[in-house]
Amino acid sequence: MENNIPAHVGIIMDGNGRWAKQRGLVRTQGHLEGLKAAKRIVKAASESGIKYLTLYAFSTENWKRAEEEVGFIMGLVKQYLRAEFDFSRQNRIRVRHAGDFSGLPPDIQKEISDSIADTAGFDGMQVILAINYGGRDEIIRAVRKFTAANKAGENISEQDICAYLDNPDVPDPDMIIRSAGEYRTSNFLLWESAYSEMYISDKLWPDWDKEDLAAAIANFQKRERRYGGIATR
Ligand code: IPE
Ligand code: IPE
Ligand code: MG
Repeated sequence: MENNIPAHVGIIMDGNGRWAKQRGLVRTQGHLEGLKAAKRIVKAASESGIKYLTLYAFSTENWKRAEEEVGFIMGLVKQYLRAEFDFSRQNRIRVRHAGDFSGLPPDIQKEISDSIADTAGFDGMQVILAINYGGRDEIIRAVRKFTAANKAGENISEQDICAYLDNPDVPDPDMIIRSAGEYRTSNFLLWESAYSEMYISDKLWPDWDKEDLAAAIANFQKRERRYGGIATR
């Protein structure tokens, strides 16, 4: 079943806090376990032939959380990027970023840019880290970039917006996965997910393993994508 593997999968990695709470642990412990799950899923995705994996790690709304939790998550991002370079090199994984880069703390910016530069030549799976990402924010920034480059916007087209999104060369996600059972997008890839297949699992993110990704892919393979057209089978 090498064919019909979704080329681009986006994941809303949710449920770290609930995972910790269930065990009487602090929320940050849940994020630490969530990072381990992210590593397992990156490996599994790369082995399954997925070409692009977008991981929603921190939203433009997540700044509302306690300073301690925000700082901990930023620290984990740094740790992930540093510690994973060998894995990226061995698996030819290219790291990219989606979101408002300028709104991130300078040390995180540096870590992200270094990883992007260090892995730029790798031709394996691309891991797009959505950090300080909001779908509405991405669209607003795209329109601003378009108007800055083209002045008048009266005739702005779908293609124009696409051209100014954060990673214009990346195809739209074929499937969006959300862990921890919440039926909403929480501002993830609003523009790009117009025809993405949604897969929602009750399993909390820190419990995710390669079998869960395999189940999501198998479910995707049974879907019929019509794009507003008429069934062909
Ligand atoms: C997802 O887990 C991670 C981030 C949003 C950074 P949560 O921290 O949202 O976990 P819950 O939803 O409280 O369980
Ligand atoms: C979405 O989860 C953001 C990330 C997974 C990074 P949230 O936990 O922030 O979403 P809501 O608040 O439940 O909608
Ligand atoms: Mg949550």
